[in-house]
Amino acid sequence: MLNSQPPMALDGVRDQIKSIPLDNIAALAKSAFNNKDIIPLWFGEGDVTTPEFIGKAIYEALCAGNSFYSHQNGIPEFRQTMATYLTGLNVKPVEMERITITSGGMPAIMLAVQMVVNQGDNIVIIDPVWPNITGIVKMCGGHTRSVRMDLGDDGWILDVEKVAAACNDRTKAIFFASPGNPTGAVLPVEVQKQLLELGRKTGIWIISDEVYCRMSFDQKVVPSFLDISEPEDRVLIVNSFSKSWSMTGSRLGWVVHPPSLEATMAMMVQYTSSGTTTYLQHGGIAAIRNGEEFVKFMTDYSRKGMEIVCDALDEIPRVILRKRPTAAMYAFFEIDGMKDSKKACLDILASSKVGLAPGFFFGKGSEKFLRLCFCRSPDQLHIAMERLKAALK
Ligand SMILES: Cc1ncc(COP(=O)(O)O)c(C=O)c1O
Repeated sequence: MLNSQPPMALDGVRDQIKSIPLDNIAALAKSAFNNKDIIPLWFGEGDVTTPEFIGKAIYEALCAGNSFYSHQNGIPEFRQTMATYLTGLNVKPVEMERITITSGGMPAIMLAVQMVVNQGDNIVIIDPVWPNITGIVKMCGGHTRSVRMDLGDDGWILDVEKVAAACNDRTKAIFFASPGNPTGAVLPVEVQKQLLELGRKTGIWIISDEVYCRMSFDQKVVPSFLDISEPEDRVLIVNSFSKSWSMTGSRLGWVVHPPSLEATMAMMVQYTSSGTTTYLQHGGIAAIRNGEEFVKFMTDYSRKGMEIVCDALDEIPRVILRKRPTAAMYAFFEIDGMKDSKKACLDILASSKVGLAPGFFFGKGSEKFLRLCFCRSPDQLHIAMERLKAALK
């Protein structure tokens, strides 16, 4: 007799996909979605909406008929605009052949990882790290090997010898973000040069996540791999419009890659998204051409948030924050006596209605840490910090 019961759907899912934990910040925040009583400091996004001039450019582009497929690498005008922008921002010129437009920073990282990882390969990641990279590598059939930065009075420091020791013959790339999420740590140019040397010596790729490069509180731009590498180096730089142009919901980003990979990138885009939304790319052009004032505003806004939050954290005896972040949008602090960061976040959510991200999401060794996104209105941050002071007494 035929068994009419269909096989369980979940059992049919690919093993690598099943191995990725479903527990993440979005899952934690789901229960509190749309709850206006909660101050949400758990996600990596501010509370500033996309500026009107960008919205208008997107709308006008759509109304003007820019509704057809895009070139896979991005529309030429946008790629050229990006090349000119990056040439002005960094030490060395960047040609448009090196730019591929993506539907956000995440797809940019996904393309980079898909490009270099074979089944069973690994990527060395520098942690504390934004957990999405681990999920991406697993989705591609690889795994990550972690190197933890050292935390001292000067903040988070990376020892490149530890990175070299973590690499083996299946290591295809070294991934890190500078400025980092959750630490805000900026890799000094000397450390970047050492990483580049290591990559050149071993043939291992560098994937440099520079999503927060314009959100520096003490320098115009943080050091970029574009300043020190040659076009044909095995370096992939990923970036996004999400943070500095407040466009998290639009999904717009880019990769800078060697010029010889232009066609390969186009092919990969073809078989994934088939290109980034055409009219959105016109918003990107407007953001780059007319957005410098807004970028400065966002950095100042984040800096003010950092000051409010760090001043308040200084008043909580159980909080240990060795050094104030000098970039990005996060305070990543330790709580004396706390054992389980997820339980602590759930308790704080229940008692104080403040949403924080647990440290354990950001790698081993961060179980006693919490992450707070301070890119929010001063009024809300003051209220949140009063509540936290009471909760962490
Ligand atoms: C370090 C880092 N890289 C990449 C991203 C992804 O950016 P996007 O929102 O454009 O996908 C984020 C988002 O939080 C991030 O923190």
